[in-house]
Order: sequence, then C-alpha cells, then structure tokens
Amino acid sequence: MFDVVVIGGGPAGYVAAIRSSQLGLKTACIEEYTDSDSNPTFGGTCLNVGCIPSKALLDSSHRYHDAANHLKTHGIDIKNVELDLPAMMKRKDDIVKKLTGGIGGLFAANKVTPISGRGKVIAGQKVEVTNSSGDVEIIESKNIIIATGSSPIEIGSAKFDDKNILDSTGALEIDSVPKTLGVIGAGVIGLELGSVWARLGSKVTVIEAMDDFLFMADKEIAKETLKDFKKQGLDIRLGCKLTSSKSLKNSVNVTYETEGKSEEMKFDKLIVAVGRKPNTKDVFSEDSGVSLDERGFINVNEHCQTNAANIWAIGDVVRGPMLAHKGSEEGIMVAERIAGKHAEMNYDLVPSVIYTHPEIAWVGKNEEELKDENIEYKVGKFPFAASGRALAVDQSVGFVKLLSDAKTDTILGVHVFGPSAAEIVQQALISMEFGASSEDLGLTIFSHPTVSEALHEAALAVNNEAIHIGNKRK
Ligand code: FAD
Ligand code: NAI
Repeated sequence: MFDVVVIGGGPAGYVAAIRSSQLGLKTACIEEYTDSDSNPTFGGTCLNVGCIPSKALLDSSHRYHDAANHLKTHGIDIKNVELDLPAMMKRKDDIVKKLTGGIGGLFAANKVTPISGRGKVIAGQKVEVTNSSGDVEIIESKNIIIATGSSPIEIGSAKFDDKNILDSTGALEIDSVPKTLGVIGAGVIGLELGSVWARLGSKVTVIEAMDDFLFMADKEIAKETLKDFKKQGLDIRLGCKLTSSKSLKNSVNVTYETEGKSEEMKFDKLIVAVGRKPNTKDVFSEDSGVSLDERGFINVNEHCQTNAANIWAIGDVVRGPMLAHKGSEEGIMVAERIAGKHAEMNYDLVPSVIYTHPEIAWVGKNEEELKDENIEYKVGKFPFAASGRALAVDQSVGFVKLLSDAKTDTILGVHVFGPSAAEIVQQALISMEFGASSEDLGLTIFSHPTVSEALHEAALAVNNEAIHIGNKRK
C-alpha cells in the first residue's frame, strides 16, 4: 500500500512525486511513455516534446540567423554560414535525454518508486497498471494524484498525417528546412515554432482564425509584437479560418476563408497548433466517481481536489493555463496538503512567456482586464530604445509596461516585450508576491547596465519620475 500514487510523470506529476516522498510519504509514479528501448521516460510533454526541445531549437535557430544576418554591424563578417540541421537536432535530442534521464536519478535519490505502464483509476482507491507487454497489476494507495497532461487538438480540416501535416511534436523533428511552411494558429506554439523555421530559411505563413492577435496579451504589447513579427518575415494572416487541407506527395494544399472569400495556398509542410486537450480518455473506470467538465478537464477545487475522496488532479488535465510551472506548483501544493500542511497556490501570479525574439512576457492584469473590472490604475512605460544595455547588446526593440493601483500604488501587472522579458517579469513577480508598490520598485537599486533597469524606469514612470525619458513638466 502506497501513501501516494501519481499517474503521469510530466512536470506536474514528477514534481508531486518528489515532494510527496520528501515529506515522508511512500510514493510511486506511473508513466506510460517509453524510449526506443522501452525504458520508462519521465518528464512528460515539457521535457520530451515541449518546453525544452522547443527552447533548444529556438536558441540554435537564433544563433544561426544572427550569424548569417546580424553580425556585420558588430564588425564580424562570417562568410558561408552553413546550416547542419542533423547536428542541430542532435543537440536538442541530447539535451532532452540528459534531462529526462536526470529524473530517474532524482526518483532514486528521493526514494520514489517508478512504475512503467498505463495507469487507470478504478473504484476503491486503486490503480490498474497495464505495462507494454499487456501485463496488469493492481496498486493500492491512500491518495491518487492524476497528472496525465494534454495532447494537441486535431481539427477535421487538417488531420495530422505525420508526413506533411504535423502537430507540435512533428514540428520539432522536420528533417530538412521546408521552403514554404504553413502554420495554423498564431498562438504560443505557432509563434515559437514558426519563428524557428523562419530563422532557418522557411517562408512562413501563419493562418489565425481570430481577428485579434495574441488576444490573451495586453493589447499594446500585442500590437507592437505583431509589427515586429511581420518585420521578421512572418506572414501572419488574422481573421482567416481554415476550411480544408489536402496532403499531397510532398506538399499540402490549404483553403481558408477570410472576409467571406475563399483563398488557397500551397505549402511544403503544415504545422497545426490550435490548442491542446486534456488526456482524460480511459484514465478512470466509470465507477471511480471522478467528474469531468464539458471539455474533458477534471473538475477540481482551488486545492486540486476532485469530487472523489483522496483523488487529486494537477497540471494540464485541470483548469487554468497549460504551463509547466503552473502544474509543478500544483504538484507541490497537493503533496503538502496530503502531508497535512496548509499549502495554497497564488493563481493570480502565474507568469506567461512566449520565447520568441524578442521575448513576450507578462504577469498579473493587463489594461483591458483592469478596465473590465473597473479598477482605477496608473501606467508607467519605458522603451528599450532608451536602455544603454539594450542598445549595447543590439536588442532595443519593445518596452516595459507597469500597471499599479491608482490609490494604493500596489503593482497589478507587468508586461514586457523585449530582451530577457521572461527574467524581467520574474523580478516584478517576486516583488508582487510581497505586495510591492511601484514606489518600492522605484526605490530599489538596479545594476547598471542591465536590461532590468527598464523595469526600474517603468516603475518610476508611473509617477512621472523616470530619469532616462523626457517627462513632460508643467
Ligand atoms: P504532461 O507534461 O503532458 O505529462 C503527462 C504525462 O502523463 C506524460 O508523460 C504522459 O505520457 C503520461 N500519461 C498520460 N496518461 C497516462 C496514463 N494513463 N498512465 C501513465 N502515464 C500517463 N510550458 C511552459 O510552461 N513553458 C514552455 O516553454 C512550454 N513550451 C511548450 C512547447 C511545446 C511545443 C508544447 C507542446 C508545450 C509547451 N509547454 C510549455 C506546455 C507544457 O509542456 C505543459 O504545460 C506541461 O508539460 C504540462 O505538464 P503535465 O505534467 O500536466 O502534463
Ligand atoms: P494556443 O491556445 O496558444 O493558440 C491556438 C491558436 O489557434 C489561437 O490563437 C486560436 O485562435 C487559433 N485557432 C484555433 N482554431 C483555429 C483554426 N481552425 N484556424 C486557425 N486558427 C485557429 O495553443 P497552442 O499554440 O497550440 O499551444 C497550446 C498550449 O501549450 C498553450 O496554450 C500553452 O499553454 C502551451 N505552450 C506554452 C508555451 C510557453 O509557455 N512558452 C510554448 C508552447 C506551448
């Protein structure tokens, strides 16, 4: 009998397992994903086919693009920059292998029992595990944590064929640079992976159904980023709804509708990135008693408890943003609650990052949300064009925008498009966790020269006190 059995070894599940074991609970983690030698491979979407391999390719493709296009102004003239795509892919695969292998080591060090196979919750606090040979084992546990993650959504107008019409996993493994690449969905995956292939030489067209670009981001940030992506050569077509596609021998024909008209395009490859769906099919027997919402997410309360006693669910399989850090923090909260601690999670401060170049990142509320909620606010902005470090490192596009409460000055949101946006937002987030005001940030010393100084200046700008922009005086 275990104290805790976790089903799914992604960033939500493996973190929950390690934390449970740290707290003295007898813990197992079940994972069905295996490598080509049938060894269980932990790390989930994030480590195997998500966050990590995409960031490896984003970095490599950025270096290639920089070397080929942007070093002359630095006085560096590299002739014949050549792409070795297999070497780039091998580097990515090696990083994935190192990190996923590392989780096995962490499990051993923390005494988590790894179990290879597919887990299914059955009535009576039990989990049925079917391994790759079809053998079935029943495991009993006082608590069960479901962390089975999510998968790409497939749409009828562009069914994945693993050849020309690809999901995000296929998009990380294309073996030669397509001359033309279509991307359905200008969301996070479309922009990140579209950027990778554009930098490597593809002519990329992004077809997005909505009229608004990056509807979840601050409008001003979204407007600025759209301008910049277009400058980078991404042909982003908004308000275009895919109606059909046909995979041919070495290409894909696509038809979409825009403003009542039908348009056709042909691509060498098509990536479909229109969102992800929770993996809840065949994860419970009908009498396990766990309830789902109409979209297939497991219903949970603010502490990730399902309606069934001692069954918890975390990560992409429950409501909220589908982000690795959100799932991991839920894993820690649940482990601590099982151990009798009163852990809470601050869902108001989950950061979002899009790892394009420059990065886009934000935390807290944006202006549209504050207006909708009738909250009066002040705005402070600082452009990277006025940052010495941003100019020195040739990354002076974008700005920092800080929103604070009009009465109390408490920071309500920080939105960044520019160099190291993710790291800058993280600094803001830490201050927000401690309830900081823009004045608090303004009174903080920032190293010079850093791009983070733009956050300092944006905080000062809230009260018209920024030093390096021309504040209008009466
Ligand atoms: P998953 O990581 O999906 O893990 C679930 C695990 O459960 C899988 O290993 C699966 O094999 C296993 N499983 C499923 N069913 C069973 C079963 N019945 N029995 C046993 N095992 C089972 N997020 C970020 O925060 N930052 C990023 O930069 C980022 N980049 C991304 C890039 C891409 C291309 C993609 C696709 C996603 C990205 N994400 C990113 C999202 C992130 O990967 C997910 O939010 C995160 O992996 C969710 O974690 P999870 O543990 O809930 O689920
Ligand atoms: P997404 O939800 O970010 O974007 C999907 C886009 O596709 C939306 O803009 C939507 O309007 C559009 N769309 C939907 N149906 C369409 C259609 N038929 N035709 C044209 N456009 C259509 O989903 P995405 O990019 O697939 O990513 C899934 C999730 O993975 C993200 O929401 C995020 O949670 C996670 N992720 C996070 C990353 C990060 O943190 N940096 C990176 C990559 C993924």
